[in-house]
Amino acid sequence: MQAKIRKLLKEKNAIMLAHNYQPPEIQDLADMCGDSLELSIRAADTDADVIVFCGVHFMAETASIISPDKTVLLPRHDAGCLMADMIDAESLEAKKAGMAPMPVVTYVNSTAEVKALSTICCTSANVVKVVNSLPEKEMLLAPDRNLAMYAASKTDKTIHVWDGYCPTHEWLTADDARAAKAAHPEAVFMAHPECRPEVLALADAIESTSGMLRVARQSSHQAFIVGTETGLLHPLRQQNPDKTFYPASEKMVCRNMKRIGLSDVAACLENMTGQVKVPEEIRIPALAAVQRMLDLSR
Ligand code: 13P
Ligand code: SF4
Repeated sequence: MQAKIRKLLKEKNAIMLAHNYQPPEIQDLADMCGDSLELSIRAADTDADVIVFCGVHFMAETASIISPDKTVLLPRHDAGCLMADMIDAESLEAKKAGMAPMPVVTYVNSTAEVKALSTICCTSANVVKVVNSLPEKEMLLAPDRNLAMYAASKTDKTIHVWDGYCPTHEWLTADDARAAKAAHPEAVFMAHPECRPEVLALADAIESTSGMLRVARQSSHQAFIVGTETGLLHPLRQQNPDKTFYPASEKMVCRNMKRIGLSDVAACLENMTGQVKVPEEIRIPALAAVQRMLDLSR
């Protein structure tokens, strides 16, 4: 299957991108693995004709927003994001209508329609930089309430919160985190900003998925508790064979991130199915918000 996929990638001048939560066999075969920001940047820079996006729908959609002339394939159409489903264009319009005019910072974990109504996008890796880049003192940050509260704690901005969240990260309670720390007192506790504020208060490092990979590589510590989706344990262990990684909770599994298998990748490349394409009237305003973020991040 791996040989077949490599051959198809070559034949179609395709690149395979994988998020850090993808199953090990997908990460191992991908041309590049990364967090949401790194994958967006790579999607913008590639000269491949086809991007096979192994992640969830909003990630493939973001690649299509950035690169409309490329064919973007999502190997499983049912790989969605439960947080992205917690906001839509209609509810955001209604919220904006009830507020004083202010910028809308939208987490990339959202649909193209929602991005199209936004001032600028952000990811977990650049949220503080994005918030600080705006001249306004007050803004709405949607849809992740935990990311919004985290950004508010790191800036002097007034941030209005949308009541969305990631169920996978909400699973991790402060009691779980305290239990993991008590079981492994020597370990550095790394948490994703999608975690609850009371969990983040217990963390030694708050990072995006690739930020955690960097911390683990650079740290002189030998043991780490990983407060994010358990898929990240694979690259952490692969890149640091002499270090030990404990999941903060075994419950932190995103089922959507686990849907894609090698046979799905082969099938979508063979038949060119699973194409994700954003209509121009949505893509153009969505691109403006994504591009503002990318311009800050390069
Ligand atoms: P990162 O951008 O940190 O990889 O996170 C994406 C995501 O979906 C977290 O749940
Ligand atoms: Fe969405 Fe959470 Fe899954 Fe990330 S881990 S894709 S935010 S549901």
